[in-house]
Formats: sequence, structure tokens, C-alpha cells
Amino acid sequence: MTVSESQKKELVRRACEIRKNAYATYSKFPVGASLLTEDGTFFDGVNVENASFGLTTCGERSAIFAAVSAGYQKFQAVAVATDGAASPCGACRQVLTEFAPDLLVLLVDPAKPDDVAETTLDKLLPGRFVFPHKDK
Ligand code: THU
Repeated sequence: MTVSESQKKELVRRACEIRKNAYATYSKFPVGASLLTEDGTFFDGVNVENASFGLTTCGERSAIFAAVSAGYQKFQAVAVATDGAASPCGACRQVLTEFAPDLLVLLVDPAKPDDVAETTLDKLLPGRFVFPHKDK
């Protein structure tokens, strides 16, 4: 299934917008993510930090956990908005690949919303871990 240009624009817009809700009081590095399901629904998430730093949840994982909690398990694309258009961390790559190994990934710095980098999760996470006994 191909992600349309208008869906890409909407993913980027939503990721930039939701980023304003990030709770990044320690790192001062807010992250917004927007995920597009197979049927065209969007789920957004932000990083939520904690005084006990290791309890922080990344924006990408907030978005996918919200989507899975709502009953969605098939995804087409994610947009991630950060300063410097940073790429998802290894933990988020592994969580995203559980549901969408070839997910389209859009990276954007909200200060340059027209400058969107495109990649795919299989490029970002070659050799992903797959549980050997997983049911097909
Ligand atoms: N962070 C994300 O939300 N996503 C990533 O892929 C990498 C890092 C967050 C975690 C923490 O709140 C802040 O960015 C700095 O690491």
C-alpha cells in the first residue's frame, strides 16, 4: 500500500503538533511521533520523561502503544519530529518492527517542516530480532 503525499504531509504536521505535548523536562529534547495505520487512522505520541530517568518512554513507543491498545496492529508509516530530525532509537526500532518491519519512516525538524527525510525501518534495523518460535 502506498502512502500518499497528503498522508505524508498530515503525518509530519501531526508529529510536529503533538510534540508540543512532550514531557521532556530533563532532557529538553521533545519528541513527537505520528503513526499511520493500514486503514488510514493516525495515532500520535510524545516522549514522557520521569525523575527516575530509565522509566522514560519515547514518542514513537507512546504512539504505537496507543495504536495497539486501540486495536490496530498494521501500520504504513511513522513521522518523528525532533530538533535535528533525529532517527528513532534502537529500542523504538525494535518495537516498531514487531508490527511493521518495512514501515516508511519520515524524519523532520519542526523548524524546517518542508525538509523531510524518508527512510524505512528495514534500512534502519537490519537483522532485527524475531522470536524463533513466533506463530505465523
Ligand atoms: N527519545 C524519543 O522519544 N525517541 C527516540 O527515538 C530517541 C529518544 C526521547 C527520550 C528522551 O526523553 C529524550 O528523547 C532524550 O533522549
